[in-house]
Amino acid sequence: MPPPKVQIPSPDREEGDENRKPGKNMKLQILKENQIDETLDTAIKQSLARCFPDIEDIFLQTRAYRNNVSLYTVILQQKDIVCAHLAVVERTITAGSDKYLVAGVANVCVLPEYRGKGFSDKILQAAAEEAKKYDFDFGLLFTNKKIKYIYARNGWREIQGQKFLCTDEGKKLEVSSAKMYYPLKCENFPSGIIDLQGKGW
Ligand SMILES: CC(C)(COP(=O)(O)OP(=O)(O)OC[C@H]1O[C@@H](n2cnc3c(N)ncnc32)[C@H](O)[C@@H]1OP(=O)(O)O)[C@@H](O)C(=O)NCCC(=O)NCCS
Repeated sequence: MPPPKVQIPSPDREEGDENRKPGKNMKLQILKENQIDETLDTAIKQSLARCFPDIEDIFLQTRAYRNNVSLYTVILQQKDIVCAHLAVVERTITAGSDKYLVAGVANVCVLPEYRGKGFSDKILQAAAEEAKKYDFDFGLLFTNKKIKYIYARNGWREIQGQKFLCTDEGKKLEVSSAKMYYPLKCENFPSGIIDLQGKGW
């Protein structure tokens, strides 16, 4: 049975600054899996389920969509509510015969009543800063045409005209979503066919 839905308070606002900044009592956290207890896990799953209604059944069961367990998770919390979330998965991909360690950004979302305030920028910036502490060659994410401008204004660059393959149930499939990368150790994205060496994220 799905866990009960939590009460959503109105987003707090700061006087004279009601547009873009997180309100009072907003807490940004970068968490490893062992720092996410059951209560927080449930709160994150509920926010994910609300933000991604097409796959809410999956998110009410697990945060590890397509079995991708996070290396770290960035959340913006107001009291018990997880207002904004993203997960970073670690993956070694290949470009031709070359290997690259990537920070795969997944499940970026902001609860509907908290949207339009730039909270996605807050979590994306925090995720990028954290990624610099690791040995990643670059960040990599998959999105759609409508949303890519949000990533672009946070330093992500679109990858165009390059073939990406993932593996699902033993089959190689082409990734059709928009692809974007974030320069870390590598300034430029490698050429050649990209193999995600597993499922997408
Ligand atoms: C995409 C998403 C993360 C953006 O989060 P956000 O913090 O609201 O982003 P922004 O504050 O930059 O707002 C984005 C746009 O939403 C619009 N917006 C404004 N108020 C809004 C509101 N109350 N509700 C919805 N959208 C609103 C604005 O047009 C804004 O455009 P702007 O950049 O020109 O200001 C969020 O909409 C979301 O969770 N969507 C569902 C899950 C999803 O698709 N995730 C992306 C997977 S790749």
